[in-house]
Amino acid sequence: MLSPLRVQGFYDVFREIIALVHSSTDVREVLELVVSKVTQILGAKGTMFRSLDLEKGQLELCAAYGLSDHYVSKGPVSNMRVIEEMYRENRPVIIDDILNDPRVQYPEEAWEEGIRMMLNLPITLRKDIIGVIRICFAEKRIFPEEELDFLSSVAQECACAVERAWLFEELQCRYDQLATRTDKLTALGRMAAGIAHEINNPLSGILLFSTSLREKADPGGTVGEGLDIIIEETVRCREIIKDLLEFSREKTHQQTMANLNTIIQKTLSLLDNMFRGNRIEITKDLFSDLPECLLNQNQIQQVFTNLLLNSTEAIGRDGTIKVSSRFDLDRMCIVGEVEDTGSGISEDDLGRIFEPFYTTKPQGTGLGLAVSYGIVKNHQGTLKAFNNPGGGARFVVEIPAVIGSPTGHGCLEN
Ligand SMILES: Nc1ncnc2c1ncn2[C@@H]1O[C@H](COP(=O)(O)OP(=O)(O)OP(=O)(O)O)[C@@H](O)[C@H]1O
Ligand SMILES: [Mg+2]
Repeated sequence: MLSPLRVQGFYDVFREIIALVHSSTDVREVLELVVSKVTQILGAKGTMFRSLDLEKGQLELCAAYGLSDHYVSKGPVSNMRVIEEMYRENRPVIIDDILNDPRVQYPEEAWEEGIRMMLNLPITLRKDIIGVIRICFAEKRIFPEEELDFLSSVAQECACAVERAWLFEELQCRYDQLATRTDKLTALGRMAAGIAHEINNPLSGILLFSTSLREKADPGGTVGEGLDIIIEETVRCREIIKDLLEFSREKTHQQTMANLNTIIQKTLSLLDNMFRGNRIEITKDLFSDLPECLLNQNQIQQVFTNLLLNSTEAIGRDGTIKVSSRFDLDRMCIVGEVEDTGSGISEDDLGRIFEPFYTTKPQGTGLGLAVSYGIVKNHQGTLKAFNNPGGGARFVVEIPAVIGSPTGHGCLEN
């Protein structure tokens, strides 16, 4: 039995540790407090906290107290026996034969340091071992039940601190990615505005001269047909430039009430030849009672064109693209999806594909998804990418419905 004074000492230390775990986002600060307080209250020589790096199969030092720099800088512990035993036993382990115990990786150095006994305390997070606290003593001793209870509670608090640190790290990483994407989109916007201005004038000239030549050309001749294509393509370029300009101004002018299904059908029929040429089957699953919503039709058509082009490029030849729409009543938004049986997107690329100029294609500009993302965002919507479990990619466009709920119960158009 420990004296009430000693129990009170454990309680005070534990309270100090808990307070820091809950007030600090700096895991190192917490671990440093833990190693110093544990050393002091147990009258130990020193304590180390090592975190387990499963990929490297080693325990890396995060905090140490009371031990010489020479001893703690020996390098990571890669002794598989220690790691395996932690997994197997998952309880405090006492090592009291420093020179001969195979679980001590640097026995002579430990002896020279004046260590005669060690206690390994595993740190677990939902049954997974994530690290170990190693407490070193200058002489052998026994551990009363209360001390081991105190150490288990300290170990749990360390696991909490480490988990919080991981969460913060992940959030910071996501925030950084978002900030980079936003920076790049802003830069793209400025560049697009500049380019659009420069290109608009020559395009107007091309359109003017080709239209007047068209009037003079034979109605049924090949020159006339060629000029028709030039005019058509120039008009298309002008539309894209106009959209880029809109995108760069972060505005969605000319919004009208429109049905997403109509836009999808139109986009599909424009790309029909390309699908046939690549032997790509299109399956449609369009919700027939989809309510109309406020959209810039050209811009949303451009989004679906980009998605369908990407799917075709990811498939190459022979595959299926499924295009679907639905109304999400809970979230009050119109949802359009493009799903393909193509190559899918690697984990590394998934986080980057919406960045301007990010492309994995030799001829790609990497603008398709960045522009689409900007357009959907300007509609207060979201554009997300997923990999299908069975292979291929799936892109989901969500646009808020600014009108009431759809009439009727809806059925599927095929
Ligand atoms: N359906 C898809 N399947 C697999 N990868 C895709 C798909 N859609 C996009 N990607 C990946 O995302 C990258 C970026 O796409 P994005 O449309 O922005 O540019 P791009 O297609 O490379 O060039 P472009 O500017 O000509 O569209 C692609 O290079 C490709 O790696
Ligand atoms: Mg593309």
